[in-house]
Amino acid sequence: MMDAPGSYRINIAIDGPAGAGKSTVARLVADALQYVYVDTGAMYRAVTLMALEAGLSPEDGEAIGRLAQRLHIELIPGPDGQRVLVDGRDVTDRLRTHEVSRTVARVAGIGSVRKRMAELQRAMAEGKGVVMDGRDIGTHVLPDAELKVFLTASPRERALRRYRQLGEGAGVSLEQLEREMAERDRLDEGREIAPLLRAPDARFLDTTGMGIDEVVARIVEWSREAARTFSEKEK
Ligand code: CDP
Repeated sequence: MMDAPGSYRINIAIDGPAGAGKSTVARLVADALQYVYVDTGAMYRAVTLMALEAGLSPEDGEAIGRLAQRLHIELIPGPDGQRVLVDGRDVTDRLRTHEVSRTVARVAGIGSVRKRMAELQRAMAEGKGVVMDGRDIGTHVLPDAELKVFLTASPRERALRRYRQLGEGAGVSLEQLEREMAERDRLDEGREIAPLLRAPDARFLDTTGMGIDEVVARIVEWSREAARTFSEKEK
């Protein structure tokens, strides 16, 4: 394991489009620094799953907003990654189905849902020492995060990574995935509230052709620098 960056703890925001490798990288960076990893996409996916289960239309913003308000969402770090509990029930294994992936960007466009998720996310980051990944973390949820990273890769490479992750048996072709991811990016970038956007003070990292270890090492290095800079400032 890599050594921790001294005792000064910072918050790290990692944003970027679908399939850029955010969740894998964010989890490994959190492990290396002994920080807590918060996967905000999983929270939007959990709301989407519950809305689908309740038979709500993704267009019914009011009903989904009310649902999001009353759901109790918990992220529990564990040896096999983060588990997601909704009202005490473990829904982790159902969050990445094709149906949820196809619907989530529309649910994430609902203002009341975003407001609620951002409140929960800020509360999780209050004590510092958090690596949070999503679309609007550096710009909106944690604008004061000491390190912000915008992670991306070429559309083809992002679709390929997701294709390998789902496995060939998933019944979705590479071309279909690439189309659906492009559509999700379009919705995420085009929405009015907290769109996917690179924060002006975010470090940009194009991971096309880079290995995971290399990406993680780069971000851990940046984290150490940021922790040093901010701890100096406080002296
Ligand atoms: O893993 P992948 O990048 O495909 O997606 P995710 O991180 O699980 O996020 C799924 C969807 O949730 C995104 O396409 C966004 O529509 C939404 N989302 C968001 O709007 N804001 C966030 N902070 C995180 C996710």
